[in-house]
Amino acid sequence: MKIYFTFGADGKSVCMMIIGHRGAMGYRTENTLSSFQYAMELKLSMMELDVQMSKDGQLVVFHDRTLERLTTKRGQISDYSMEELQKMILPGGEKIPSLEEVFALARGKIKLNLEIKMQKISGKLSSSIRDYLSHYSLKVEDVVVSSFDHRELLRFQSLLPEVPVAVLYYGIPVSLNEVFYRMNPSAVNLGLEFLDAALVEEIHSAGRVVNVYTVNDESDFQLIKNYGVDGIFTNYPERFLNRS
Ligand code: G3P
Ligand code: CA
Repeated sequence: MKIYFTFGADGKSVCMMIIGHRGAMGYRTENTLSSFQYAMELKLSMMELDVQMSKDGQLVVFHDRTLERLTTKRGQISDYSMEELQKMILPGGEKIPSLEEVFALARGKIKLNLEIKMQKISGKLSSSIRDYLSHYSLKVEDVVVSSFDHRELLRFQSLLPEVPVAVLYYGIPVSLNEVFYRMNPSAVNLGLEFLDAALVEEIHSAGRVVNVYTVNDESDFQLIKNYGVDGIFTNYPERFLNRS
């Protein structure tokens, strides 16, 4: 069930995908159009972004549940309308983008890993993605939806089964059998801190891709390569381009 990777004879990936984390957040304010634009200028194959919902039910791209770290406002994303959120100023004078603005920018030139960061957004997310796939003539493989919330991800998949999903873990699960059986994810995205050779092998044996977040250092990159993982999320894609 590989969607974008090639395995060598030893079962290891022969080409590691460099995925821009929150766009290219090492160089631009995270999850902004400027960060996504830069990831596209670097000609990355894929970039990752975080999706939540505003008070008035619009899909908005923002990582934290609360606003304090990146704006002068307080409270949660879901306490504000899209109009209110888009008036807020982020570091560097940037704006909080809507998901629609990101699709309009990307237009299939770069694959999108949309990470669900909030419960109960699958209905809106699935209908929006369906619209964008049609509007921009995208292939379903141009989008992958991921989440640590596997129940929400399962809901999403039941609504839009043709779009690939990736399960996120921060830790090492006892077993992956149930998630493979019930959700059929194309990829398993693992935290760097919990990487384990046996787990990578188990996932590959099941025919799924392994991506690791967040790889920013050379030493970690070398370790990851030895594990034979398929892709990395990185804040600094320029460090690793043409290296894999
Ligand atoms: O999707 C990989 C990574 O983005 C998950 O962690 O906290 O950066 O959203 P976080
Ligand atoms: Ca994320």
